[in-house]
Amino acid sequence: MTDGIGRDGLKAGDVAIITGGGGGFGRAFSLRLAKMGARIAVWDVDAALGGETVRQVREAGGEARFFKVDLADPASIAACAQETMAAMGVPYCIINNASVFPRGEVIELTLADWEWTLKVNLTAPFLIAKTLGPRMIEQGRGVVINLASGRAVEGAAKGANYACTKAAMISLTKSLALEWARHGVRVNAIIPGQSLTAMPLAATPEAELHAHAKLRNPMGRIGYPEDVAGLAAYLVSADAAYMTGQGVAINGGAVMVP
Ligand SMILES: NC(=O)c1ccc[n+]([C@@H]2O[C@H](COP(=O)([O-])OP(=O)(O)OC[C@H]3O[C@@H](n4cnc5c(N)ncnc54)[C@H](O)[C@@H]3O)[C@@H](O)[C@H]2O)c1
Repeated sequence: MTDGIGRDGLKAGDVAIITGGGGGFGRAFSLRLAKMGARIAVWDVDAALGGETVRQVREAGGEARFFKVDLADPASIAACAQETMAAMGVPYCIINNASVFPRGEVIELTLADWEWTLKVNLTAPFLIAKTLGPRMIEQGRGVVINLASGRAVEGAAKGANYACTKAAMISLTKSLALEWARHGVRVNAIIPGQSLTAMPLAATPEAELHAHAKLRNPMGRIGYPEDVAGLAAYLVSADAAYMTGQGVAINGGAVMVP
């Protein structure tokens, strides 16, 4: 930089933890960041999905390890954080990507489903921040990316539980960004639109998703994990060194934020 201001970003060898790394976005984030030289810690409750991501990263010439974790369980999060740091070191990047989305109108949703959604989607990122944040602050550099959703601003019929956690993720992003800005740790949120992964496919057949996007999305197509991975690549890079506390929407123009 000609202005003499140091700008930090992901460097080869830095560790990136991707929660839900076995899923649609999680795998795309893992492959993309590995391509940038990151060593990937794939955190997932599903060993088969997580293992497949590790296999694909290695096949592409990258480095990755799988760590089994149940993000609904604080003890499992604490154990996984220690295991990851013992095996790979303090992370430079954490992508809070794992989510659950049990569906139902408010009057049908059980308290158990409500609480499970909150635990995985919101309490886990809070606990991860409490556990790993101090180590990133000590290190004086780091990036957190939180996955929100267009539902945070639009709401979701049959998904108040999910929408509430996604709105809260935007809020958590802003608060953490304020607390950590002086410590060299940046925190931003990605606000994706509907994309072709297991999550929407659990509720809607693929052909219907495409037909809906063709009709309703300004660009006439659904999103793909690779669309969103490119934004994560930017957010971890030195190009985004002056960016913190922001929520960036990526959805073909479907929801415009702010
Ligand atoms: N796909 C979309 O249309 C869309 C739209 C907006 C936002 N998002 C957000 O993007 C993120 C990724 O979504 P996706 O579509 O890739 O989902 P996905 O269902 O493909 O992947 C989710 C991953 O999280 C893991 N997971 C679930 N519960 C877990 C737990 N308790 N502990 C550990 N891992 C657990 C799953 O095993 C899976 O690998 C989510 O935060 C989601 O809310 C997705």
